[in-house]
Amino acid sequence: RQRILSGVQPTGNLHLGNYFGAIRNWVEIQDQFDNYFCVVDLHAITAPHNPATLASDTYTIAALYLACGIDLQYSNIFVQSHVSAHSELAWLLNCITPMNWLTDMIQFKEKAVKQGENVGVGLLDYPVLMAADILLYNADKVPVGEDQKQHLELTRDITDRFNHLFGKGKKVLKSPEPMIRKDGARIMSLTDGTKKMSKSDPAEGSRINLLDSPDEITKKIKRCKTDPIRGIVFDDPARPECQNLLTIYMLLSGKAKEDVAAECADMGWGDFKKLLTETTINALKPIQDKYAEVMADKGYLESVLREGRQKAEVVANQTLKDVKTAMGYSLPQ
Ligand code: AQP
Repeated sequence: RQRILSGVQPTGNLHLGNYFGAIRNWVEIQDQFDNYFCVVDLHAITAPHNPATLASDTYTIAALYLACGIDLQYSNIFVQSHVSAHSELAWLLNCITPMNWLTDMIQFKEKAVKQGENVGVGLLDYPVLMAADILLYNADKVPVGEDQKQHLELTRDITDRFNHLFGKGKKVLKSPEPMIRKDGARIMSLTDGTKKMSKSDPAEGSRINLLDSPDEITKKIKRCKTDPIRGIVFDDPARPECQNLLTIYMLLSGKAKEDVAAECADMGWGDFKKLLTETTINALKPIQDKYAEVMADKGYLESVLREGRQKAEVVANQTLKDVKTAMGYSLPQ
């Protein structure tokens, strides 16, 4: 079986972008692959973070993986910082990664501006750690949203460079392929249809979280940005908010694009918002119920993560050993 690796940062609640860009896809294909899903808590400190909530946010994300349908029969869930090989491989890869590959990354440039003078080395180094996450598990495929495409390309460049420098004709590290679905690859903010929905956006009203209450969902959709045009249609570049909200409705309802297009073509915003609100509340309810169940048994969640760590370490430590041997290190006997 081919292997999959993917993860989400515990930087806040999961939102519809994380769900449609990543987790829903993991759930749909998990039975065809050998899956490693991690909560990437080392990535979560590349922007200023709150130590008081890091651990609980990590548990929340792991519980949401289960609540969204990740099945332990096919998949392994673990926490990145529990497997020390991630940090160690990142260091080794740092030393063969040219600086300008990292300063060229779009996400670094965008976030560095936001962090100003205090921008940390960790933010620059984020894609190398991500490469280590993927390469440790010899992942064949990495299902992510569109925003991670450039980081995946960098992982492939680092892989080629490593194999070229140290492989002696062999592929010590395996080059991963991105898996980006067309629908839902880029869910946009509710307050600006040209910006991606993101956990780190300070405006809470810009996203719908998977754990939002019906009241919160109703308020957010009521206030979300629209336009003065009647008729809710797909594929009009002049109407980014319309495209985004209709896509969210299509994905949450599970209906085909043509059916949604016919259903909403003549609707006004008032009726459409009502429909979207009801659909969102109903679609998130089963996830929220399952989440409450998982969180009620902390011991179970801890055992899932313990077992996940053990399985992950077996694979990760072997890759690390291969990498160190190829680089010429003496290994402890
Ligand atoms: N808006 C989105 N649409 C589709 N996919 C998305 N992803 C994130 N946002 C969208 C995908 O979700 C996975 C986890 O990404 P993340 O933990 O980086 O999530 P985030 O919401 O992007 O988190 P932050 O803290 O706000 O980070 P930044 O500031 O980096 O955006 C990935 O597969 C991602 O593609």
